[in-house]
Amino acid sequence: MGPQGRAVCSLLFLLRALAHSDSDFYLPGDYLLGGLFTLHANMKGIVHLDYLQVPKCKEYEMKVLGYNLMQAMRFAVEEINSASSLLPGVRLGYEMVDVCYVSNNIQPVLYFLSQDDYFLPIQEDYTHYKPRVVAVIGPDNTDATTAVAYFLSLFRLPQITYSAISNELGDKLRFPALLRTVTDADHHIEAMVRLMVHFRWNWIIVLGSSDDYGRDNSQLLHQRLAHLDICIAFQETLPTPQPNQTVTQSERESLETIVGKLRQSTARVVVLFSPELALYNFFQEVLRQNLTDTVWIASESWAIDPVLHSLTELKRTGTFLGITTANVHIPGFSEFRVRSSQARGPAPNRTTPGATCNQECDTCLNATKSFNNILRLSGERVVYSVYSAVYAVAHALHSLLGCNQTSCRKEVVYPWRLLQEVWKVNFSLLGHQIVFNQQGDMSMQLDVIQWQWDLSQNPFKSIASYDPSQWKLKDVGDISWHTPNNTTPVSRCSKSCRPGQKKKPVGLHPCCFECIDCLPGSFLNQTADEFECQPCPKYEWSRRNDTSCFKRKLVFLEWNKAPTIIVALLAALGFLSTLAISGVFWRHFQTPMVRSAGGPMCFLMLTPLLMSYMVSPVYVGLPTVSTCFCRQAFFTLCFTVCISCITVRSFQIVCVFKMASRLPRAYSYWVRYHGPYVFVASITVLKLVIVGGSLLTTSTTLTHRNDPNDPKVLILSCNPNYHRVLLTNTSLDLLLSVLGFGFAYVGKELPTNYNEAKFITLCMTFYFISSVSLCTFMSVYDGVLVTIMDFLVTVLNLLGISLGYFGPKCYMILFYPERNTQAYFNSVIQGYTMGKD
Ligand SMILES: *[C@@H]1O[C@H](CO)[C@@H](O)[C@H](O)[C@H]1NC(C)=O
Ligand SMILES: *[C@@H]1O[C@H](CO)[C@@H](O)[C@H](O)[C@H]1NC(C)=O
Ligand SMILES: *[C@@H]1O[C@H](CO)[C@@H](O)[C@H](O)[C@H]1NC(C)=O
Ligand SMILES: *[C@@H]1O[C@H](CO)[C@@H](O)[C@H](O)[C@H]1NC(C)=O
Ligand SMILES: *[C@@H]1O[C@H](CO)[C@@H](O)[C@H](O)[C@H]1NC(C)=O
Ligand SMILES: *[C@@H]1O[C@H](CO)[C@@H](O)[C@H](O)[C@H]1NC(C)=O
Ligand SMILES: *[C@@H]1O[C@H](CO)[C@@H](O)[C@H](O)[C@H]1NC(C)=O
Ligand SMILES: *[C@@H]1O[C@H](CO)[C@@H](O)[C@H](O)[C@H]1NC(C)=O
Ligand SMILES: *[C@@H]1O[C@H](CO)[C@@H](O)[C@H](O)[C@H]1NC(C)=O
Repeated sequence: MGPQGRAVCSLLFLLRALAHSDSDFYLPGDYLLGGLFTLHANMKGIVHLDYLQVPKCKEYEMKVLGYNLMQAMRFAVEEINSASSLLPGVRLGYEMVDVCYVSNNIQPVLYFLSQDDYFLPIQEDYTHYKPRVVAVIGPDNTDATTAVAYFLSLFRLPQITYSAISNELGDKLRFPALLRTVTDADHHIEAMVRLMVHFRWNWIIVLGSSDDYGRDNSQLLHQRLAHLDICIAFQETLPTPQPNQTVTQSERESLETIVGKLRQSTARVVVLFSPELALYNFFQEVLRQNLTDTVWIASESWAIDPVLHSLTELKRTGTFLGITTANVHIPGFSEFRVRSSQARGPAPNRTTPGATCNQECDTCLNATKSFNNILRLSGERVVYSVYSAVYAVAHALHSLLGCNQTSCRKEVVYPWRLLQEVWKVNFSLLGHQIVFNQQGDMSMQLDVIQWQWDLSQNPFKSIASYDPSQWKLKDVGDISWHTPNNTTPVSRCSKSCRPGQKKKPVGLHPCCFECIDCLPGSFLNQTADEFECQPCPKYEWSRRNDTSCFKRKLVFLEWNKAPTIIVALLAALGFLSTLAISGVFWRHFQTPMVRSAGGPMCFLMLTPLLMSYMVSPVYVGLPTVSTCFCRQAFFTLCFTVCISCITVRSFQIVCVFKMASRLPRAYSYWVRYHGPYVFVASITVLKLVIVGGSLLTTSTTLTHRNDPNDPKVLILSCNPNYHRVLLTNTSLDLLLSVLGFGFAYVGKELPTNYNEAKFITLCMTFYFISSVSLCTFMSVYDGVLVTIMDFLVTVLNLLGISLGYFGPKCYMILFYPERNTQAYFNSVIQGYTMGKD
């Protein structure tokens, strides 16, 4: 401010000082408090820069709430002065200036810092400098508070703001003299977020004013939501209104575009960070475009604005919720608010424009009176913040002046000493503890309010409260949504998926997705990943849309199946008949028929046959390592014994005569060393070696396999590579069968008694075919079908040998005993020899 400017303003102050003893803005006292309030609002703070005069606030729109807050400061000071105990014998005064939002905040600061003679000295050390005021209450918004705080911090002059929530004001290195009686922006944002979470809104729109307030808080909300599943559909900046409230063309277009976007969006929740000043035109446009069913979330800057609220048409547009400081009833304030100044004399003589340096508001009282009902019903919220700020300074003065019940030391108060005391205050005021934390903030509870338009009710009804110490929402009450049947509005980008459905992202927002069923065999673990179905573990399976897997049903050959029972009955039959055959052969052991069948060698065949029948049930039931071993090794060994016996028997029948005549020496060795038995034994040993070898290469471990037709089941079976082993194992048997078949074929013309050729041919052929087809079958199919086939083939092979080989002989023994004599045999042989000759 140049010397000329100072002179002008000094003159103005002088003029006013003469007159303003009867003003609302000034109260003489021993110690003055500065008050900065927004009685008029102009967001275009730079408009006055094109002329060298202090801006005239009264040219702008009046702000009822600002006057209400100013009255709160007056009320607090008067209450302190009239109460004897806090500052006995000391009279507090005040000096208040209208900062018109941001337009007029430097000039009042200079005024407050100057001395009584309007002189602000330039000096190096202000330790013993005594400015006009001892502390400053306000201003209300962040932009103005910051500007003011830079000045006041230089002088360590205590400044207590009652509604600037921005987080950067908590930086005590930059603003050591700034304290707040409000909770910081983090908590306001958190309360909003909790509200969204509570009502499951995850698709929201953020509108902010084009100043620091709108930008900073939008940014904060953005950052906070980044950690949550709440998405911002879009974010827009509202145009700054003209100081004279006329809507320019570009502003109108911008508002039309924004409201048009709101109409089109599926998001139904709109968060608005803006001074209420920028909102009149916006809401006019909202009404003009008939926007409905919207939930508006108001930041503290406009949450309890009575003027916006008086636009009763707004209730058409949806539900208004807001975050604001908790209500604390201040007794007597409602009456004080609209009380005219007691000594209100004639208006000061104002000949020069702006002469009051913004300490005038002719219309304030009348306007406030017209809003008195709504202000009275809405209670004291920010009012309490102003009230407690004044009390905090008074308490600090109390301890600085060493007051007792009756008197105080009336000494010079240097601001920096008062500041130290303000930091230390700790007192109870109307049931609330007033104490500043390390950021210089007072932790006040926040309320979530809903706008109501019923006369006679609180227009800003509290529907929930937010406790900053716990970071959570409490006591969420009923909200009357302006929706059919009062249902909670839904604002979600996508409906949440049913359990077991994964999310498929659509676009960039994590809140927008399609729901896709998890396929069978996979499941959704919501805690781990909502976007991907996880495959089930190896032995488990799941149905469509499952959130977990279940153990698959184990499948193996069971007793209760018809094929099992049939094959088992066959085996039992085979066992009984073989037992019967053994009995018959035992009884007729010495008969030529038995001897021609092999004599003792018959029992060498019958015993393994009987054993095989007995253990054949190993095919049924849960496979184990031992049953698998049985299946893969035992039966094949038994067959080898039987087949080698049959082969050697065929050999004897066909070739023994020829061998006896042509190779007598070999024949004598054959007879002397029990050739047949040696042959059988060596073949068995050979087979043992083969089986042992193949067991070593292929283990008998169990395997689980999926059923391609029914994934819900798991097939438990012996080693699936078993068919290759089977082929190796049976190769020897096959060789023997071919041999036996050959001998039998050669001897097919032998007398019927010796002619087992037909039967041996039959059962060898059968064995051959069944083994090969089983191997083929196994390589094509798997599962229970293979087991039952394996079982069936084994039993049929056993039956083939028992019935095919022994059956006819038994039949002869039992039904043609006359043919079972030595004489008959001799005659047959004679007949054969003669016929041959
Ligand atoms: C309001 O201000 C704008 C520009 O600042 C001006 O063009 C307009 O004429 C003014 N309107 C009124 C009614 O003063
Ligand atoms: C809003 O509604 C009114 C009457 O209900 C109608 O006249 C007007 O055209 C509507 N405006 C828009 C933008 O839809
Ligand atoms: C008010 O100002 C007018 C014009 O400057 C002057 O004539 C009048 O005497 C002044 N009144 C008071 C009370 O100062
Ligand atoms: C305020 O209202 C009263 C009566 O309602 C009226 O007499 C007075 O002129 C008004 N004051 C202003 C500044 O409008
Ligand atoms: C209060 O303090 C003054 C001096 O500062 C002293 O004279 C007076 O007795 C004190 N009163 C009480 C009640 O302690
Ligand atoms: C404030 O005072 C209350 C009771 O008087 C006490 O419990 C609390 O700890 C004090 N707080 C601080 C920060 O000193
Ligand atoms: C409101 O509730 C009634 C009864 O519960 C029901 O019949 C009606 O369909 C509902 N209306 C809407 C819009 O949900
Ligand atoms: C889901 O994932 C969580 C975390 O990775 C894990 O603790 C939990 O066991 C999983 N639940 C299931 C059923 O897999
Ligand atoms: C999976 O969920 C979807 C959506 O709820 C449903 O349409 C579908 O029938 C479900 N599928 C099964 C197999 O339950």
